[in-house]
Amino acid sequence: MTELDHLFEKNRKWAANITAKDPLFFKTLSSQQSPQYLWIGCADSRVPANEIVDLMPGELFVHRNVANIVIPSDLNCLSVLQFGVEVLKVRHIIVCGHYGCGGVMRAMGNETLGLSDYWLRHIKDIYHLRRQEVHQAGGEEERVDKLCELNVMEQVQNVCRTNIVQGAWERGQEISVHGWIYGLKNGLLKNLNVSVDSIQQIPPVYRLKDADNG
Ligand code: CO
Repeated sequence: MTELDHLFEKNRKWAANITAKDPLFFKTLSSQQSPQYLWIGCADSRVPANEIVDLMPGELFVHRNVANIVIPSDLNCLSVLQFGVEVLKVRHIIVCGHYGCGGVMRAMGNETLGLSDYWLRHIKDIYHLRRQEVHQAGGEEERVDKLCELNVMEQVQNVCRTNIVQGAWERGQEISVHGWIYGLKNGLLKNLNVSVDSIQQIPPVYRLKDADNG
């Protein structure tokens, strides 16, 4: 017996349940994956991507990090993005934040955490640039939630500023990038209505020449 035996036990029950409903499920899935959606979300344990949208294995390609940030120097996120767009050919990219995000909350304060301070700096910059909007949102909780929304909107733009997404658009591949936010208190998703599906919707300075046909 080990401390984690219960997880293996849960896993066996989970696999048995799925196989009972569809005996060929794992066999079929193991030979290929063709998800339509790429999910970029927070690593928070309360925001499990597949469960929230009730999708089965094979239906959602997922990248998660602290506070769902997309930055152009993060090879991990960019590799997921490239694989999702160029190999799996996902149709939709969903950046999904959540209200009450601990990373966003930390970025609004002055406490240092060590290495993750560098990561959260990206959110601190958004906070600083848009502090008026954030402060007008109301009390402390409303301010955090406002910055959670603004962070999602910024990350949607960051996805669109990559040569991966712009290159796909140039090749005629249909991709829409969406910004959603999840409510920890009610389990519901909200569409922030900031979807982008063409290079014309991006500020000119971020349009890459090759992707924009000059
Ligand atoms: Co979070």
